[in-house]
Amino acid sequence: MKTLVILASILGDRSRSNQLADHLIQRLRQLEPAGSIQVRDLGADPIPYFDGATAGALFTPADQRTAAQSAMVARSDALIAELFDADRIVFAVPVYNFSLPAQLKSYIDYIARAGVTFRYTPEGVSEGLLKGKQVLVLSTRGGKARGTPSDTLTPYLTQILAFVGLADPVFITAEGMALGELAAQEGLAQARQHIDALVQAQPPQRRAA
Ligand SMILES: Cc1cc2nc3c(=O)[nH]c(=O)nc-3n(C[C@H](O)[C@H](O)[C@H](O)COP(=O)(O)O)c2cc1C
Repeated sequence: MKTLVILASILGDRSRSNQLADHLIQRLRQLEPAGSIQVRDLGADPIPYFDGATAGALFTPADQRTAAQSAMVARSDALIAELFDADRIVFAVPVYNFSLPAQLKSYIDYIARAGVTFRYTPEGVSEGLLKGKQVLVLSTRGGKARGTPSDTLTPYLTQILAFVGLADPVFITAEGMALGELAAQEGLAQARQHIDALVQAQPPQRRAA
């Protein structure tokens, strides 16, 4: 089982979502000693902002690209190859200003590629092409919003992940990170329990596409 963990926090060692990802990684190493785990840390090692030049590079035919454009496309290709290669994809995502960190949004702009990670059928229906993966989102937030309209992260991530084929993500959220240390530790402990229950319950095989 190959697991790809994508970290999105900008807070490094102080990050709570990174703590949840660390907990999951520890559990997976115990349960799947032969499995591989690859970590992409978008906070520590940000990918360049997805800008007009990047979009232009992607729209330029391969044989007409400059060296700089080829490098931009190669970055997108490499990020996408990691996703196709993984059996399980874990996103560790803090809520920043009711949304996802800009680093993760830029990453999404690199990997949502027509004809590569999604396509439109002749009937005009979109089809995600990253199929057959287990998808887990470990999220942290300062306040409490689960199940309310203030949780704008869950619907957005559910939609964009499904768009590229990463359907049915399991969300585990630690809330109350900014409501005092006691509340933060309670939120993290609950999330760790959910992670433990999930990894025990999930068979370590690739899901049917
Ligand atoms: C720039 C910034 C914006 C934030 N915006 C929100 C927010 O809109 N809602 C919320 O509940 N918490 C918000 N928080 C609190 C974080 O979600 C909380 O501290 C969480 O633990 C961050 O995850 P991390 O520690 O992995 O970075 C914000 C924190 C930062 C640094």
